[in-house]
Amino acid sequence: MAQKGLIKAILATGLAFAVSSAIAADKPAEKPATLSGATGSMLANTCAGCHGTNGVSSGPASPSIAGFNKEYFVVAMSEFKEGKFPSTIMSRIAKGYSDEEIKAMAEFFAKQKYVHAKQDFDKAKAEQASKMHEKYCEKCHEDGGSAATDETGYLAGQWSPYIRMQLKDYMSGSREASKKMAKKLEELHEKEGDAGYEALVHYYASQQ
Ligand code: HEC
Ligand code: HEC
Repeated sequence: MAQKGLIKAILATGLAFAVSSAIAADKPAEKPATLSGATGSMLANTCAGCHGTNGVSSGPASPSIAGFNKEYFVVAMSEFKEGKFPSTIMSRIAKGYSDEEIKAMAEFFAKQKYVHAKQDFDKAKAEQASKMHEKYCEKCHEDGGSAATDETGYLAGQWSPYIRMQLKDYMSGSREASKKMAKKLEELHEKEGDAGYEALVHYYASQQ
């Protein structure tokens, strides 16, 4: 219950901030993108408590969502809504938004600049994993995981605890990987074991 109260408080603060900053702004207001009259940036303010200002998270558990591809953003939000992506919190949050509102937020976040997180990493592990990434992951996670595509978010510069958790969820099956990705994860695991995953986490963290 305490957690629920906290979420409500975070959402309420975000909304109050969104409304007051919209009123305070001198420049003409952004055109409302939704039935409720809320713009993408107003809606996005309710996410800032966890995902940071304009989607650049100060980490470590909430991923950055700035610069996400619009299509992937919409897919991720609907997967949360339907309970297909494992979630500690997003499933409940996503259910609070209409498709139209999600689209407006997708437009907003796609325009924000992604910032690689400043975080610790093990240099030896990162170097060791660069080849693993090339062999098993680069095909879909291009530019060393720096590319956000219509199918996936960022790996490079994303917060390590988040990446580590996703890999764990894929391995346990609580997040379903596409057949092709599942195959690559398995190949990697056969060859390198759990240490291979951990090394990759450091490789993505090393890109700052
Ligand atoms: C209370 C903290 C919190 C708030 C508020 C919050 N999020 Fe999240 N978000 C998370 C966490 C934690 C995750 C990782 C998945 C999980 O555990 O639910 C996440 C994951 C995501 C992802 C998936 C990222 C990826 O790489 O696939 C998206 C997209 C997202 N959130 C969008 C939003 C939007 C849009 C809002 C505002 C409407 C929002 N979040 C509000 C904590 C939060
Ligand atoms: C055949 C394409 C493909 C390959 C190869 C692939 N992935 Fe993915 N990956 C995806 C797609 C598509 C997603 C989108 C999310 C989903 O549907 O679960 C994804 C999502 C992820 C995520 C979650 C990102 C987020 O924002 O939540 C991680 C972490 C990840 N992949 C790691 C890896 C690693 C590590 C490798 C190499 C061992 C790899 N992937 C290989 C296609 C691929």
